[in-house]
Amino acid sequence: MTCRIAVFGTGYLGATHAACMAELGHEVLGVDVDAAKLAKLEAGEVPFYEPGLAEVLKRNVDSGRLRFTSSYEEAADFADVHFIGVGTPQRKGDFGADLTYVNAVVDQLGPLITRPSVIFGKSTVPVGTAEALARRLDAFSRPGAEIELAWNPEFLREGFAVEDTLHPDRMVLGLRKTGRGRAEEVARQVYKKLLDEEIPFIITDLSTAELVKTAANAFLATKISFINAMSEVCEAAGGDVTTLADAIGYDARIGRRFLNAGIGFGGGCLPKDIRAFMARAGEIGADEALTFLREVDNINMRRRTRTVELAREAVGGSLLGARVAVLGAAFKPNSDDVRDSPALNIAGQIQLQGASVSVYDPKAIENSRRIFPTLSYESTAVDACKGADVVLVLTEWSEFREMDPRALSNVVRTKRIIDGRNCLDRDRWTEAGWGYRGMGRS
Ligand code: UDX
Repeated sequence: MTCRIAVFGTGYLGATHAACMAELGHEVLGVDVDAAKLAKLEAGEVPFYEPGLAEVLKRNVDSGRLRFTSSYEEAADFADVHFIGVGTPQRKGDFGADLTYVNAVVDQLGPLITRPSVIFGKSTVPVGTAEALARRLDAFSRPGAEIELAWNPEFLREGFAVEDTLHPDRMVLGLRKTGRGRAEEVARQVYKKLLDEEIPFIITDLSTAELVKTAANAFLATKISFINAMSEVCEAAGGDVTTLADAIGYDARIGRRFLNAGIGFGGGCLPKDIRAFMARAGEIGADEALTFLREVDNINMRRRTRTVELAREAVGGSLLGARVAVLGAAFKPNSDDVRDSPALNIAGQIQLQGASVSVYDPKAIENSRRIFPTLSYESTAVDACKGADVVLVLTEWSEFREMDPRALSNVVRTKRIIDGRNCLDRDRWTEAGWGYRGMGRS
């Protein structure tokens, strides 16, 4: 059955969700306040880099199933299923999540709805937010509108957003404890194709649904910081963290995924989500339960300073006047996202210590320039490496993994490379006469 759906927010989450819901056969309206973004989307262009999304978007815009608007009135009139996919960034000045955008959607949309509708929240929010929003809707919805709020967190990874939306590991739906309405039935209609594939569908209460998302991200962050802590121990003891990760990863209870040591995690989700989780735990009197996340955060931030130290050591003890090439600026490969990117943060710190830093990234230069205009940017890896005293690989793009060390040998001043993601073939680089330094590898 075709549903008429509005998706609020057209960032990574919202744009992908809107395009994928149309791909499932629904009629979809994407809603945003940013006119420039809407113009691009309407033309079938994705305003950021996300592999595979452009095709899905274009196909559905062309077929007429997917449209975009800035009008909440139009959305309320058109759809009876609404998804909230706006951002919940870290609040300026503290760890908590900024709920301005989520609240704005509910406050603007609620009073405009005139018939029974379901609003599904997808944004990552502190536990308790959904119940508060539901109460807000109760207070100002029109008679007969019967607006039901449910929480349906997303788990998509940038770089795999389409795949994760159309073929998720699981789906979670949180319903209000006060009497069940139509939300489950509507969710089953919206996701029928996915449910037919027997993707696990977990129905729970609002709080648990909100917590599933934050707990999943906290676990992933902890896993990365665990292996980065082992990396510190390996450095002190003369061990090799990559071999260690391979060996412990064979234990199915541990698993090898998300055990890549390096410069740590960044991006628009993990760092701010663990902080918001700690902040909310404090507010509800459970702060002791999450004090370990502070250490997870500390370990993660230490990786950045450690990488700067390694660069300093590599150029003989002072970065002043050194030429440093940084390959990679995005917070991870296959993305142009530089939000809280460890790579860019390290590049900035090195520059602050007096080095001249040349950065190259296959997709993230434009975004990097916007937030770090003082670094110099090059359009190829070779250009960035010209005259370098040390080369740092900070995002594991396949272009860098596959790089031929000999192609750079005559370009750099000194053949010295720091593999911030342990993604290079160490033997290949050392055989070509390079000094190789990995993270947590003796
Ligand atoms: C994350 C979650 O994976 C996703 O489920 C959630 O919905 C949103 O947040 P994303 O931010 O796209 O997704 O990136 P992810 O692939 O999780 O990587 C996060 C960071 O961890 C990156 O900076 C990555 O480089 C780093 N990382 C990841 C490591 O340092 N080591 C690893 O082993 C894995």
